[in-house]
Amino acid sequence: MAIRQVRTIGDEILTKECKPVKEMTPRLRQLIDDMLETMYDSGGVGLAAPQVGILKQIVVVDVDDGDQYVLINPEIIFQEGEQTGYEGCLSVPGKYGTVTRPNHVVVRALDVNMEPIQVEGEEFLARALCHECAHLHGQLYVELVEGELVDADTLEDEEE
Ligand code: NI
Repeated sequence: MAIRQVRTIGDEILTKECKPVKEMTPRLRQLIDDMLETMYDSGGVGLAAPQVGILKQIVVVDVDDGDQYVLINPEIIFQEGEQTGYEGCLSVPGKYGTVTRPNHVVVRALDVNMEPIQVEGEEFLARALCHECAHLHGQLYVELVEGELVDADTLEDEEE
């Protein structure tokens, strides 16, 4: 496993559409391992392949609910409700912004063995799933932010 460099906003690769994965290969397994390691090392709750420079439809998510999700070719097949809250991204370091997302989603995807799976998420998991899936279509949360981006330092002050 290895930690990969996370691309940051302004890097054109973050604006591109990712290609579906057709078959699992040792190289892609390595990529997934590296994405997990990179996510944990950075203290993130999710990471999408384009953030490490690979235009493939792969995301990893771990919002500390006891499960780690590796989702290949994920697709949001159901969404309902609404939540508004702070959101950040490893590709937009040191910033947060207010984003409204569905409060409940169901995602259909393939697992690392290319077997079909469904993941259902509410609240923070739903937010993370939406955020990561959007990366695969070249969308960063900053496009959805209501109001201004704020510095992470400011946010910490507010929460004290
Ligand atoms: Ni992100």
